[in-house]
Amino acid sequence: MAKYRIAMMPGDGIGQEVMEAARLVLDRIGLDAEYPAGEIGWELWRSEGNPLPERTIELLQTCRCALFGAITSLPKEEAQAQLRPELRGKGLVYRSPIVRLRQEFDLYANLRPCRSIPGNPLNYREDIDLVIFRENTEGLYAGVEFHPLPEDVRSALAEHSPGMAAFAEDDSADIALSCRVFTRRGCRRILRRAFDHAEAGGYPTVTVVEKPNVIRETSGLMVREAREIASEYKGIELWEANVDAMAMWLVKKPQEYGVLVSSNMFGDIISDLAAQLVGGLGFAPSGNIGDAFAIFEPTHGSAPKYAGQYMANPTAMLLAVRLMLDWLGEDEAAGALGQAINAVIGESKVRTHDMGGSSTTLEMARAVADRI
Ligand code: NAI
Ligand code: MG
Repeated sequence: MAKYRIAMMPGDGIGQEVMEAARLVLDRIGLDAEYPAGEIGWELWRSEGNPLPERTIELLQTCRCALFGAITSLPKEEAQAQLRPELRGKGLVYRSPIVRLRQEFDLYANLRPCRSIPGNPLNYREDIDLVIFRENTEGLYAGVEFHPLPEDVRSALAEHSPGMAAFAEDDSADIALSCRVFTRRGCRRILRRAFDHAEAGGYPTVTVVEKPNVIRETSGLMVREAREIASEYKGIELWEANVDAMAMWLVKKPQEYGVLVSSNMFGDIISDLAAQLVGGLGFAPSGNIGDAFAIFEPTHGSAPKYAGQYMANPTAMLLAVRLMLDWLGEDEAAGALGQAINAVIGESKVRTHDMGGSSTTLEMARAVADRI
């Protein structure tokens, strides 16, 4: 029996292609692992009305961790329209399967390193080394949403919040509400991860990115907890930044920041911004990490305009494999893969479309594999 059982869920669009690249490289590394395939994504929504079938969850429960490619998620009306005719009008609701997986397996920390690889022609600067910790299970993505606004929810809100007076004239059918739910537990565990990472990696600062001057309750809770946790870590300074200002600072002086920690949606947004500083989504990996299970993926989506053409840059996926090897404690393999990626990108002889070249996804993956 292999040492590890690692599920591979390619998903939709370029997810398929970058997963092929991951497999090619993992086979070259010779990791002692088996890779059962997990089904996920848009095709399953269309044919079964569920993009994350129970059999996939059951498979994941037998695995040490998983690799995920990308999925397509379309808005409500389009999702309904694309369902197989027999399934329409049955009240099926599309929910993003990756968001569901994060919640189902309590993968509360979304780790998103954005480091410039020396010599990458797409670098904004050569000296960027950011690691973003995004809370992954709560906040605006918790799925507590209403439209139309139910009357009992409306009257409870009106009773408890003077802010609701501004909407008194609007019909309940015309009000959509998405709740931003933070818990003390949720804030503390993502903050703890961020500080532990800063300590282990020798980062001098952790910046908590919120908006407590306006979103007083939720952002306020996160910042208060950050101050408390920071007091336990001597030698690491806590910086506080508002998310809008952070967008500006990340463009102005990204090299001055180390570890950033934020809630679900703000973390999502600033990590895409940070990704662009180090070459774009083709270079941005992420790990969804819980206490005992983890799913590693590129930050990008299914990129429909590139799908089926092997034009996507597999580097984000390969860096996600590297994060996985780190998480498994396979330090030697992780280091070797990191060096191979750096060598290929640094030389820039093999360049995918985003890098201004015409190499394919698998050519890039083979070049990396050849350097291992
Ligand atoms: P996207 O990340 O798929 O692509 C945006 C653009 O980034 C692409 O058009 C391309 O120019 C560039 N890009 C992305 N990955 C690249 C790669 N590997 N190499 C080179 N360039 C790359 O985001 P978009 O277009 O907003 O969404 C497409 C679909 O993906 C949507 O259905 C969306 O819901 C879904 N999505 C899924 C995610 C996931 O699976 N975790 C994350 C983000 C979006
Ligand atoms: Mg995103």
